[in-house]
Amino acid sequence: MGRQEGLRVAARYMLLPLIDLHYAVVLRRSLQVPFPPPKFPTGVTARLATVDDLQLFKNMIPPIRLRRFERKLNAGELCLVALHEGEGVGLGWGSFANSITVNHTPLKLGPKDLYLWGAYVTPAFRRRGLMTAMANMQLRIYQEQGWEYTYQITDWYNRPALNLARRMGCVPVANILTLRLVEWRIARPVSVETLHREVAVPAEVNTIVSSEAN
Ligand SMILES: CC(C)(COP(=O)(O)OP(=O)(O)OC[C@H]1O[C@@H](n2cnc3c(N)ncnc32)[C@H](O)[C@@H]1OP(=O)(O)O)[C@@H](O)C(=O)NCCC(=O)NCCS
Repeated sequence: MGRQEGLRVAARYMLLPLIDLHYAVVLRRSLQVPFPPPKFPTGVTARLATVDDLQLFKNMIPPIRLRRFERKLNAGELCLVALHEGEGVGLGWGSFANSITVNHTPLKLGPKDLYLWGAYVTPAFRRRGLMTAMANMQLRIYQEQGWEYTYQITDWYNRPALNLARRMGCVPVANILTLRLVEWRIARPVSVETLHREVAVPAEVNTIVSSEAN
């Protein structure tokens, strides 16, 4: 992690037990459409992670979260890890209804829906097409496994992630506000029926999603 980003992430993790606020858009992608073959930057490979790969996560997530990630991998949640010269340089997770992760979101997913989260590329590898390649590889794997739709929740101010989502053919289907103060949480549940109905999203979110990609 870069120093500035490291400080920001550390501050956020220190505050996380107390407060967490998100104004975000839910983005959906159909897995029935074809995806281009993943094109990784030179020297980078990727694979679905197992618990034996946890040491690769160390330069991408704070050590305090490793145990939780181990539990998620053991429970079958899917994680693609990208490697360069034996070091982890990218992560991207896929989780299903009733998983540890999805139970902590307002999403109510159906049996063929996957929730994509935790997309992360180390600063030195950003803007080189790595997450695009990882996303194409993830989607191909999930399609082969029989999943039909992916969903992600992206903070509306995260322009890099919104741009990437737009390039990957995501459609905004709902907006959500979540606020957690210590153990007290407000979040409007978003059911699969709502997600499939393509509810209106605020104009400003649509504008960001469409203008940033141009
Ligand atoms: C978002 C993130 C995963 C993108 O990874 P990446 O490997 O740099 O993405 P790519 O190189 O494949 O970029 C693909 C497209 O995303 C968009 N994008 C990526 N970084 C961007 C930035 N800093 N500003 C604007 N658009 C950006 C662009 O449209 C880009 O295509 P282009 O380079 O042809 O313009 C990475 O910036 C990251 O790890 N950010 C911190 C964690 C995070 O915000 N995760 C997303 C949570 S939903």
